[in-house]
Amino acid sequence: MTTPQFPAPAIRVQGIQKSFQDLHVLRGVDLDVAAGSIFALLGSNGAGKTTLVRILSTLLKADAGTATVHGFDVATQPSEVREAISLTGQFAAVDEILTGRENLVLVARLRHLPDPGAIADELLARFSLTDAGGRRAGTYSGGMRRRLDIAMSLIGDPPVIFLDEPTTGLDPQARIEVWDTVKQLAQGGTTVLLTTQYLDEAEQLADRIAILHQGTIIQNGTLAELKALLPAAEVEYVAKQPSLEDVFLSLVGETGTTAQPASATTAGTDKEAR
Ligand SMILES: Nc1ncnc2c1ncn2[C@@H]1O[C@H](COP(=O)(O)OP(=O)(O)OP(=O)(O)O)[C@@H](O)[C@H]1O
Ligand SMILES: [Mg+2]
Repeated sequence: MTTPQFPAPAIRVQGIQKSFQDLHVLRGVDLDVAAGSIFALLGSNGAGKTTLVRILSTLLKADAGTATVHGFDVATQPSEVREAISLTGQFAAVDEILTGRENLVLVARLRHLPDPGAIADELLARFSLTDAGGRRAGTYSGGMRRRLDIAMSLIGDPPVIFLDEPTTGLDPQARIEVWDTVKQLAQGGTTVLLTTQYLDEAEQLADRIAILHQGTIIQNGTLAELKALLPAAEVEYVAKQPSLEDVFLSLVGETGTTAQPASATTAGTDKEAR
């Protein structure tokens, strides 16, 4: 007899595998993300974070394993998954020629929502972009562009959002603004899965942190659980708590190696969904 789990996880990943030719990037990834929580996926360059996010957002097909998002199977119910999510990619999707407001109106129109102008104005206000709303997005700073990008991804109130490296390239002030935005989202009940290489970002934001390394999740826990993996280093009588960076480097190794080549017999194919 199975015990039903309440509430059901917003994202459930079981045994996901993905190879690109002979590069075995994901070798059996398992994770659950609780509804309304912030989950950080940490990993070195090339670990496969974007690959996993693309599979979960139905842009790429897995070779093996299953994943559900908001209760829908990514392989067999991709349309339902797409309606339940938004994806803010590693590279902002903002149209530089349009103004900030026009970008928002365009997305609201594409989603067939009533009163796109009102939706745009509400989001501009929420992201402190009202004054800049009439300016071409090409003139925005990196932080403003990121905020606009995230605002665009919220149109239609998707219950699950994927943020692939939401603060890469931002200055400390802009990062804090994006962090505040993400925290507000989770407080409002949105489930957030973000990828990051910034360990302090995971420390600041995430309810749970998973480390993706050599194709699998090698650790998954709260910040306190991950810190407990390393003993506090004692210096005379003062105990020094390990930082998340200490834990990460100890688990992954200082070199942060990437995905391993697969053997010729298990090589998969690159199946792009679209
Ligand atoms: N379409 C593709 N074809 C071939 N190889 C790919 C493809 N997409 C990703 N890869 C390879 O898969 C590995 C994982 O890439 P991925 O982009 O998922 O890493 P990542 O963890 O997001 O890295 P980063 O931190 O640099 O963004 C890399 O070695 C990458 O070169
Ligand atoms: Mg990436």
